[in-house]
Amino acid sequence: MEKKTVLSGMRPTGPLHLGHLAGALRNWLKLQEKYNCFYAIVPWHALSSEYQNSKDIKKYIYEYALGWLSFGLDPEKSVLFIQSEVKEHAELHLLLSMIIPLPWLQRVPTFKEAQKEIADRDLNTYGFLGYPVLQTADIVIYKANFVPVGEDQAFHLELAREIVRRFNSLYKPIFPEPQILLTEVPKLAGTDGRKMSNSFNNTIYLHDSPDVIRQKIATMVTDTRRKKRADPGEPDDCPVFTLHKAFVNKEKREELAQGCRTAGIGCLDCKNVVIESIQRLLAPYWENKEKFEKNPQLVWEILEEGNKKARKVAQKTMEEARAAIGI
Ligand code: TRP
Ligand code: SF4
Repeated sequence: MEKKTVLSGMRPTGPLHLGHLAGALRNWLKLQEKYNCFYAIVPWHALSSEYQNSKDIKKYIYEYALGWLSFGLDPEKSVLFIQSEVKEHAELHLLLSMIIPLPWLQRVPTFKEAQKEIADRDLNTYGFLGYPVLQTADIVIYKANFVPVGEDQAFHLELAREIVRRFNSLYKPIFPEPQILLTEVPKLAGTDGRKMSNSFNNTIYLHDSPDVIRQKIATMVTDTRRKKRADPGEPDDCPVFTLHKAFVNKEKREELAQGCRTAGIGCLDCKNVVIESIQRLLAPYWENKEKFEKNPQLVWEILEEGNKKARKVAQKTMEEARAAIGI
């Protein structure tokens, strides 16, 4: 049986951190064994919100490619590419923009929230409104069947399906309806106890050394009930334990939770377990990264190979799309 196609993307807006690992990369790595995978770095999506900080995007494109390769995404198995180097995405975005009713976009929750919450830049732009249309183009240009993303992207995926249905019924059924492959995205707390996010400066980076990781976690706030070693705590109220939920196996985790609730263990004992799990998970990454860093040209070459493979598929789809429309 022919392999089904998977596509996902990442916005190159800040350094890779544990959230990218837990919420995407770990899953992408597994999927490449079973599916025909396309993984895109998406500069145009980055630009839709970071148009005032565009100078950093290129640096992050390289860093993401380096990170993905070091973590084990394999260019022999998956197509690793840069969205903005496959110009057909822009053409399909344009064609889809003709058929999507404006109210569909105006009711997108992420659009409405960004208008309210993001005060430091104007996101009431044409490009930002069209964000989900561009995302749909990214997906359907490869006729992807599955899109592994977190719950925060569910609405975008639903919209992609509606756009596909509209295109298929207006013209010709050339696009499969992409299905969400819902990834369990653990909500990680950052070093200050708030949600881990590059914009809060509280992240644990993949490029942090083993010592820095130890240091960051060892000094993290815990459940405030545990003022003294003898005070019992509640793991569900502890920022550190969000890391356990993502990186420590269930059996060990339950043992630690029990130890916390009975004051049987100290916080440092508990932290050491998660520090070591993360270090173990990242050990091959650090090793590979050193090798790739010696040869940045190779990273760019791998991306260019991916761009070529992606272009070939995208060009074929665009021929079908133009013909379906009749232009
Ligand atoms: N919107 C996605 C995010 O913020 C990124 C993205 C762009 C994407 N194009 C995509 C994800 C296509 C999946 C498929 O995470
Ligand atoms: Fe958090 Fe672990 Fe300390 Fe409990 S023992 S408060 S879960 S760090």
